[in-house]
Amino acid sequence: MEAELQSLKSEALAGLEQIDQIAGLEEFRVKYLGRKGEFAGLMKQLGQVDPAERPRLGQLANSVKQDIESAYEQRQAALEAGQGPVAPLCDLSLPGRVVPVGRLHPVTQIMNEVCGIFEGLGFAVAEGPDVETDFYNFEALNIPPHHPARDMHDTFYVSESVLLRTHTSPMQIRTMENQTPPLRMIAPGKVYRCDSDVTHTPMFHQVEGFLVDRKVSFADLKGVLSVFISRMFSADTPIRFRPSFFPFTEPSAEVDIGCVICHGSGCRVCKQTGWLEILGAGMIDPEVFKKVGYDPEVYTGFAFGLGIERIAMLKYGINDIRLYYENDLRFLSQF
Ligand code: DAH
Repeated sequence: MEAELQSLKSEALAGLEQIDQIAGLEEFRVKYLGRKGEFAGLMKQLGQVDPAERPRLGQLANSVKQDIESAYEQRQAALEAGQGPVAPLCDLSLPGRVVPVGRLHPVTQIMNEVCGIFEGLGFAVAEGPDVETDFYNFEALNIPPHHPARDMHDTFYVSESVLLRTHTSPMQIRTMENQTPPLRMIAPGKVYRCDSDVTHTPMFHQVEGFLVDRKVSFADLKGVLSVFISRMFSADTPIRFRPSFFPFTEPSAEVDIGCVICHGSGCRVCKQTGWLEILGAGMIDPEVFKKVGYDPEVYTGFAFGLGIERIAMLKYGINDIRLYYENDLRFLSQF
């Protein structure tokens, strides 16, 4: 009987090891510990053993029963706590999967950088509609219906007098209409032109800036743009103003910086000139002030407009503007 008790114990403990679901426990309990179970069956034999042996075997039987019971309880507790030897859901020794990290589009990054620099100089940000009227996009900016400057804009028309804005300059008018000087504003946003090649996409981004107050001079314009360029590129970036023409500024200038690729010695990017054009600017034309009801005898101001994609191309040495909009992660993830 002693041997039977021992083998019952080891059989029960081994059986318990195999149970990996709480549902399996009850069957075990009935089989080994139940009233008609294996242990109870053995205990019936106890009455037939030699009375001299009976106390020792009785003790042994008790301890076997306790061992099985306590092993049973432990397994029950472990399974309830979810620590049972359930088949592993995954191989913990495998390396983790890399979660790709998203990032801002390079155009957004440069846009934020440009706006940040001007905000640091006290400029406030204004946003306006992409779908504009002819009045704001052209007329109020001193570009009347048959003005040749309209040709340069390759306009997408929605109707005869409604269009997709071709530049952010309409925000000069929208802001000045609603505010009185002094004002310092930047207006970032999308603009549209019917044009597509390595340096043009039908949609691109501009930031317009303008400052209006009494006694604003061209020197103020140069000061603000010089600070901007030194922060955007580097403190020693050469800068030059070339006379130019825009209907809404007088005098007007195009601003060049020393080529960031060859540093002035001449290369393909700067077409051997050593200079790169980065923005248009000028003193706001008195005709524009008249359109918004400002007295040009009292107020003067400057304005400038720059293309974000172009600045990013110069800063990062990108030679095809279309790369920005092809959504190729190999390109985008470099920024
Ligand atoms: N609106 C012009 C363009 O898109 C850029 C520009 C030039 C804006 C001169 C200005 C400016 O404010 O003064 O071509």
